[in-house]
Amino acid sequence: MRLGIAADHGGFDLKEEIKSYLMNNGHDVTDFGAKQMDSGDDYPDMVIPLARALSAKEVERGIAICGSGVGASVAANKIAGVRAALINDHFSAHQGVEDDDLNLLCLGGRITGASAAKEYVIAFIGATFSGAQRHLRRLQKVKDLEK
Ligand code: RB5
Repeated sequence: MRLGIAADHGGFDLKEEIKSYLMNNGHDVTDFGAKQMDSGDDYPDMVIPLARALSAKEVERGIAICGSGVGASVAANKIAGVRAALINDHFSAHQGVEDDDLNLLCLGGRITGASAAKEYVIAFIGATFSGAQRHLRRLQKVKDLEK
């Protein structure tokens, strides 16, 4: 799967760990930064380029990490076609895709440990949207807001 990943200083270490893990498992991962630890960087500068790439279908799914995961999800959801959510549990990591067509998993680098984060990422990328009529109907109501 073509994946994109991005993080600010609050998520940098977790991003590096997840990126290595995904690449070692055969995924094509584009890193939208930060490319180095910088305690003064701002999450929109990394998250929005990833969100735009997702919107343009240059990547199929994304992972965005800040300290809490809140700022990353708030910023990314401003971009049309992006469906981002902060994920702190395994169920939501796959159900978000199955029901809501989640395409950007947001994590908190100061909240979620690396082992749990990897499990959420595996659940996220392994899930597929159900395509059920009720979910398509609900998603259309969300998409209508982007017009
Ligand atoms: C940065 O210190 C921190 O505020 C940011 O990483 C994130 O947690 C925002 O939601």
